[in-house]
Amino acid sequence: MRIFSGIQPTGRKHLGNYIGAITQYVAGQDRGEAIYCVVDLHALTVPYQPEALRDAVYDTQATLLAAGLDPERCIFFRQSDVPEHSELTWLLMAVTSYGELTRMTQFKDKAGAQRELVTAGLFTYPVLMAADVLAYRAHEVPVGEDQRQHVELMRDVAERFNARFGETLVVPEPRIPAVGARIMDLGAPENKMSTTGGTAQGTVLLLDEPATVAKKIRSAVTDAGTEVRRAPDKPGISNLVDILAVVRGVAPETVEQEFDGSGYGAFKQAVADAVVDYLAPVRERYRTLRGDEAELERILEAGADKARAIAAATIVDVRAAMGVGAVRSRG
Ligand code: TRP
Repeated sequence: MRIFSGIQPTGRKHLGNYIGAITQYVAGQDRGEAIYCVVDLHALTVPYQPEALRDAVYDTQATLLAAGLDPERCIFFRQSDVPEHSELTWLLMAVTSYGELTRMTQFKDKAGAQRELVTAGLFTYPVLMAADVLAYRAHEVPVGEDQRQHVELMRDVAERFNARFGETLVVPEPRIPAVGARIMDLGAPENKMSTTGGTAQGTVLLLDEPATVAKKIRSAVTDAGTEVRRAPDKPGISNLVDILAVVRGVAPETVEQEFDGSGYGAFKQAVADAVVDYLAPVRERYRTLRGDEAELERILEAGADKARAIAAATIVDVRAAMGVGAVRSRG
């Protein structure tokens, strides 16, 4: 089984990213052939600083390595190092529905929020994402809930391609974590934790100092009650129960039982301690890794070599099926 996912090089990574996505990437290395890429080409779809992009890739790469991605056990590379992604994007445009792209909620949200140019790249973002996955004929795509619609679109694209040009591409399945898929902002628990749309106090960054992490969790918004249990009218407590459950690797019910009758103060302190312990080793490893850019670049290059070999073979089949270019036999 082959697993593929892409990671944005924008924004500092937070606890929600870590729980929702990063731990899944790490686990993927034991479940199948895992391929991960830092999607710098996707970062071009919104306003950005060219001089900051390369560093953002290294930051993201070092974070993922610190979290447990192992270049010996997965293929880990930078999207722009494998030009096959760009070529396949164009080829897949031929089987992508304009109407479906206009229905993408992420496009509508981002286009609506955009003060400057809304680019064609923002609109066709999901096609590049489809190319990312389909180039590797991946079976499974670990993503957060917010990416479900994009995975649906890539499934439609693959199915339409196969129906139109013959069985060529693998139709991938999304893999979305049940618990922890939606870690909410600690200060505004109706909203997802986010470095762009969230509150600063309610967003635990992976690289926050331990004291900062603890303070943010102890200041989390709760409700007027006293019971530690999940309920629709208790979004703050529900969020903390989910966080502690994931960090400890237990079911949310177990957390509820343990803190039955203990009150919010003690509960929050326990969550704070657990999250601090959980993030500390990641932060330490990040520091070491991020300090050696030559080594980071070497890892990216080796990853791109492996990725290119797979993607290039898919492109040969896609071009042949579509009648594009000279007749070529597969090598
Ligand atoms: N759009 C994804 C996100 O914002 C990132 C991404 C790009 C991705 N290409 C991908 C995720 C391919 C999974 C598979 O999180």
